[in-house]
Amino acid sequence: MSSNQFAKDVREGLSSTPKRLSSKYFYDAQGDKYFQQIMQLDEYYLTRAELNIFQTQSQQLLDLFDSGGAFRIVELGAGDGMKTKFLLKYFQDKGADFSYCPVDISANVLEELRKNMLEEMPTLNMEPLAGDYFQVLSDLKFQNHKRNIAFFLGSNIGNFRRDLAIDFLSSIQRNLKTGDFLLIGFDLKKDPKRILSAYNDSKGVTKAFNLNLLNRINRELGGNFQMDAFDHNPIYDPMTGECRSYLIAKSPQQVYLSTLDEAFEFKAWEPIYMEVSKKYDLGEIDDLAKETGFRVKKNLFDSDDLFTDSIWEVV
Ligand code: TRP
Repeated sequence: MSSNQFAKDVREGLSSTPKRLSSKYFYDAQGDKYFQQIMQLDEYYLTRAELNIFQTQSQQLLDLFDSGGAFRIVELGAGDGMKTKFLLKYFQDKGADFSYCPVDISANVLEELRKNMLEEMPTLNMEPLAGDYFQVLSDLKFQNHKRNIAFFLGSNIGNFRRDLAIDFLSSIQRNLKTGDFLLIGFDLKKDPKRILSAYNDSKGVTKAFNLNLLNRINRELGGNFQMDAFDHNPIYDPMTGECRSYLIAKSPQQVYLSTLDEAFEFKAWEPIYMEVSKKYDLGEIDDLAKETGFRVKKNLFDSDDLFTDSIWEVV
């Protein structure tokens, strides 16, 4: 991502009404660290719930995946691969015939992941692929006619606006072949208090994670945002299942970005919309699959029914 694009998106976002900033810029080096901390928080149940699914239902997953013989797992945005690693180990112990293709834009992330995986599984059949998700999938589409199983974990689909989620899933579908699978994680609708506290933790890590984007703007675009002049305000709407995060200016102020040579005015209590994290019910998951050319083959749940990994088949 060029810093030019960053500058352009920030200018556009801060000039809009309401103001917004794109969460895709959360993940600089410090942002990555905060996100690692978020995943360890007591209140942030999502990562543990998805790991629990992999731990308790690994055989079920293997039975679904290898029903057509050899298969290939293509993990979109693998990150540290912590959850997937558990599953891969199980598959290896069972002597399954499979390969693992983590895909990420960042070659650095992939290299770290490769070292880490091979340390624990020296014989893992692994092919890391740096690049665009859809390009990688289309390159793999007819290779060996193995079943491709795309993984899109962590309820990351919940961070897309609905129309963009549909575009994204349709593009994945077009780059898979009939009989291929998508395993996709969804955070489920549940007690609103529980959801809200996952995005409003008592240690303030999620707040720091959001504020870090202002810090990044200061650093990379010569900004003068004052961190303590903004508060972090997540809200959950049980009607839509949307948990939305805002940073709110606590007083009227002006922020100047020297790279843009532009000043932005904030009214008192004016919000900047940062991100949505949508929660789903099973009907919505079914609709989304149908609308994008898939059929739900199976939903797997963690022991507390907080989260589902939904396995979709290309029809
Ligand atoms: N997709 C996950 C979620 O919606 C991870 C995530 C993305 C996240 N952005 C976040 C977690 C911001 C906390 C705050 O929860």
